[in-house]
Amino acid sequence: MLRIRGVHRRFGDVHALRGVSFDVAAGSMVALVGRSGSGKTTLLNVVGGLDRPDEGTVEVDGVDVTGLTEDGLSRLRRERVAYVFQTFGLIPVLSAAENVGAPLRLARTPAADREKRVSMLLELVGLAGHADQKPGELSGGQQQRVAIARALAASPRLLIADEPTGQLDAETGRSVMALLRAVVESEGVTALVSTHDPVMMALADRVIRISDGQVDG
Ligand SMILES: Nc1ncnc2c1ncn2[C@@H]1O[C@H](COP(=O)(O)OP(=O)(O)OP(=O)(O)O)[C@@H](O)[C@H]1O
Ligand SMILES: [Mg+2]
Repeated sequence: MLRIRGVHRRFGDVHALRGVSFDVAAGSMVALVGRSGSGKTTLLNVVGGLDRPDEGTVEVDGVDVTGLTEDGLSRLRRERVAYVFQTFGLIPVLSAAENVGAPLRLARTPAADREKRVSMLLELVGLAGHADQKPGELSGGQQQRVAIARALAASPRLLIADEPTGQLDAETGRSVMALLRAVVESEGVTALVSTHDPVMMALADRVIRISDGQVDG
């Protein structure tokens, strides 16, 4: 599903990724762990096509992301890869249902299909009763559940989450992690999740450790 080879990324004098290589099997959930500044966000951005490596290759679902044009990268982000951010990234003026449906609107999914998929996803993340509430009327954990539902809306192949529980208390973080684990199974998606949470590491199929821009072991 994911094939990463010899990836380097430099920001001026900072050599953020120094030859990162690993593979991820389809349908698995990988926890990416490392100290602050070790290169986790940089790596996730390169894998998801938000940023380009200076050297090396990234293949997502058989597509060499590093060879894509800007248009190709936008398509990749629209069709194959979805992001969940630490800060949720929901649109404040839209309801939970409208936020979840936004990627489907972009994909021009017919309204009836969209509504069906949105209801199913809100149900899946345990928010069926909160469809009409705006992000500001939801708790942090509920907002992150909406963000997960939105990420899944367009049926991505790869779900990337950068410290998705970083803003949540331990208990809420755990329930969001358990939810992520469950949706990876039910939606058959591959997930790459950076985290500092030992519980997340225990839930993952595999833990990849990164330090100073290199994968350990
Ligand atoms: N756009 C940028 N410009 C300059 N330096 C950057 C940029 N993005 C990242 N860096 C540097 O690259 C290194 C890796 O940063 P990165 O954000 O990937 O770490 P991280 O593991 O995600 O840390 P954290 O756990 O704090 O989120 C750091 O030294 C950082 O300062
Ligand atoms: Mg980071």
